[in-house]
Formats: sequence, C-alpha cells, structure tokens
Amino acid sequence: MTSATPAAAVLRPHAEQHFADELAALAAADDRPRPPGWRLSPWAVTAYVLGTTLDDGTVVTPKYIGARRVVEVAVATLATDRALLLLGVPGTAKTWLSEHLAAAISGDSTLLVQGTAGTAEEAVRYGWNYARLLAEGPSGSALVPGPVMTAMAEGRLARIEELTRIPSDVQDALITVLSEKTLPVPELGTEVQAVRGFNIIATANDRDRGVNDLSSALRRRFNTVVLPLPQTADDEVEIVSRRVADLGRALELPQVPTSTAEIRRIVQVFRELRAGVTADGRTKVKSPSGTLSTAEAISVLTGGIALAAHFGDGTLRPADVAAGVHGAVVQDPVSDGVVWREYLETVVRERAGWADFYAACREAGR
Ligand SMILES: Nc1ncnc2c1ncn2[C@@H]1O[C@H](COP(=O)(O)OP(=O)(O)OP(=O)(O)O)[C@@H](O)[C@H]1O
Ligand SMILES: [Mg+2]
Repeated sequence: MTSATPAAAVLRPHAEQHFADELAALAAADDRPRPPGWRLSPWAVTAYVLGTTLDDGTVVTPKYIGARRVVEVAVATLATDRALLLLGVPGTAKTWLSEHLAAAISGDSTLLVQGTAGTAEEAVRYGWNYARLLAEGPSGSALVPGPVMTAMAEGRLARIEELTRIPSDVQDALITVLSEKTLPVPELGTEVQAVRGFNIIATANDRDRGVNDLSSALRRRFNTVVLPLPQTADDEVEIVSRRVADLGRALELPQVPTSTAEIRRIVQVFRELRAGVTADGRTKVKSPSGTLSTAEAISVLTGGIALAAHFGDGTLRPADVAAGVHGAVVQDPVSDGVVWREYLETVVRERAGWADFYAACREAGR
C-alpha cells in the first residue's frame, strides 16, 4: 500500500515505517534460517519485539515489555500452519504486539480487518467493484480483494482485530482459509492459493468472551497466547514511562520533566484499584467498573503532560493528572464515584507525601 502523504506529516507511521532502520539492521545481522516468506528469522523477530543491542552497535528498542516466553511462543506459532490468537484483558498490548509481529515478519502491518458486529464476509474474503461488475460481468479486474486475500496472494500476515466481535457466520469464512489455505472465488471459477509466508494473527478481548464465541472448528485452528497484565509495579512503571516518552516525542509535545515518582503513583493507584487491595496488602479497597489498564495509565499521563506544557508551569504536577485519573476511575458516576471517594479518604489521604495529589483529586471530583 502506498500513500501520498509526506512521511513527516503522518500522525502515526506504521511500525515498519517507524522502525525501518532497526528492521534493516536486524535483517543485515540475521544469519539464522528464515521460514519461507519471512523477512527475518524467528530469533530476529523476537529480538525486534523485545529489544537488544546488535554487534554493530545498533540499539533495537523494546516494543513489548513482558515475558520472553510469551513472545517466543507467539513467533513460533506463526512459523507453523496454525494461526495465532492473542487473548487478554483490554490494554495488554494485543493490538500493539500484533502490529509489530506483522511488521517484523512480513514488513507490512497494514493488512488489517477490524472486527465489529457489522463486519461482513466481503471484509474477510473479497468484494466487487460494482461499476465494473455491471459493465463487464464478473472478472478478475472487478474483484476487490480483502486484506486476508491479499495476504494469501502475497505470502504475508493478515491481522484480524477483535475476532470474537465478528458474527459467527462471517468467522466461519476463515475456516477454509486456515485449513485448506485457499480462498475459492466461485463467481470466477477460480481460487486463491496461499503463498508461503501467509498466516493470520487475531486479537480478542477476554471481556468480550461470549459475544460471539469462537466456534470449536475455528478455535482448533488457532494457538492461543494470553497476554497478561504487567506482573509487577516495576514492569508497569517501565511500560508506562517508555510509552509516555515515545508518545510525547511523536506528538511533539513540549518537553515536560516527568518524574518517575508521578508515574509510579498513577501506576500504584491503578494497580491497587484493580487488585482490590493496597500495595502493602493491609487495606482492602473496592474495584471500580472500568479496566484501569496500562493503556489508560499511559493516556492519563500523556494528557497530564499536555496540560502541564500548555497551561501549567512546565512541570507535571498532581493537578495535571488528577482530572485524567478521575475520568479513568469514575466511569459510572454513581457506583464508581462512591468507590473512588472511599479510596481517596481511606488510602490516599493517609499517605505520606500524597497530600497534593489528594487535594487535586478532591478538587477534580467536584
Ligand atoms: N506489556 C506491554 N509492553 C509494551 N507496551 C504495552 C504493554 N502493555 C500495554 N502497552 C501499551 O498499551 C497501549 C495499548 O495497547 P493495545 O491497544 O495493544 O491494547 P489491547 O490489548 O489491544 O487492548 P484492547 O483490548 O482495548 O484492544 C499501547 O500503547 C502499548 O504500547
Ligand atoms: Mg486492541
């Protein structure tokens, strides 16, 4: 796919554009066997995802922060005839990891089907250019391939987001694709046979389970890899710090010194509310209805930095993040409001050094 927009103006470049230098350096350094149709060996794909320093000094930044084994299993799956299903609660980097895997393996993360309740079979298979269809009848040039069909023809990875939101009969269109590795086009009396290198990475949200559960026939064709929430507070602080710094650069936000202490505090608040208990294990707290994911912590801090840069004194203060925290926690004004106030009064108020944060949160909740 090509685009006429100059690269510098693009708000969010694809992973393969953004990290083109790292991918090129890895390809040059990579002397291990590559599965057919892959740009890199499984070892180099994993190094791209988890980060490393190459012998020539090139620093490959970590994209996914988490257990090496999780990434290795995901990469190894894609080298087999089974497709990969990334499963997890919201904000566990399912979409993020799938984009980076596609970029590293195929050099193209854009062959994407966004799953919704309205996703039709054409999105998974192919559609028609109706003007041509009417003028010429069914022909190869009237056929409009969907991302999966393109991936099959070109031997690349296709990504299917939110697979379980797709209606079951549309999901079933994938069974032939995955088991026979062909996509029949009965209108033309032909088929597309998948070229080596083709596979599918799907993502699905734990909480959506039951919306359109995967049929057992389809489930058998996927290896499921569960992406966990960050295990320790330190891991989560690292993820948030990295992503906030990356986003600030990408959005060209004015430089705001962001103290690790402020990030650590937001992460601690989110983790305590998620777990239903304070970090020291002493006090039980109620959990609000929202997910309070790592992704939301990243948004709260990025929003806070924008506030501090444009309206504050250029330093991230509790008042800059309080409104964001309040918005993330209090999704339901009544029940979550009670949970949040109780947490503020029983936990936040008592903590040494948290007085400013307490006052700012009280103010934001008014
Ligand atoms: N373990 C992690 N390593 C690196 N980044 C992470 C990690 N966990 C979360 N993130 C960050 O969180 C953000 C959101 O991730 P993403 O959108 O991929 O979540 P998701 O699992 O697809 O969520 P949803 O179920 O809502 O679609 C990304 O910016 C990603 O960088
Ligand atoms: Mg997602």
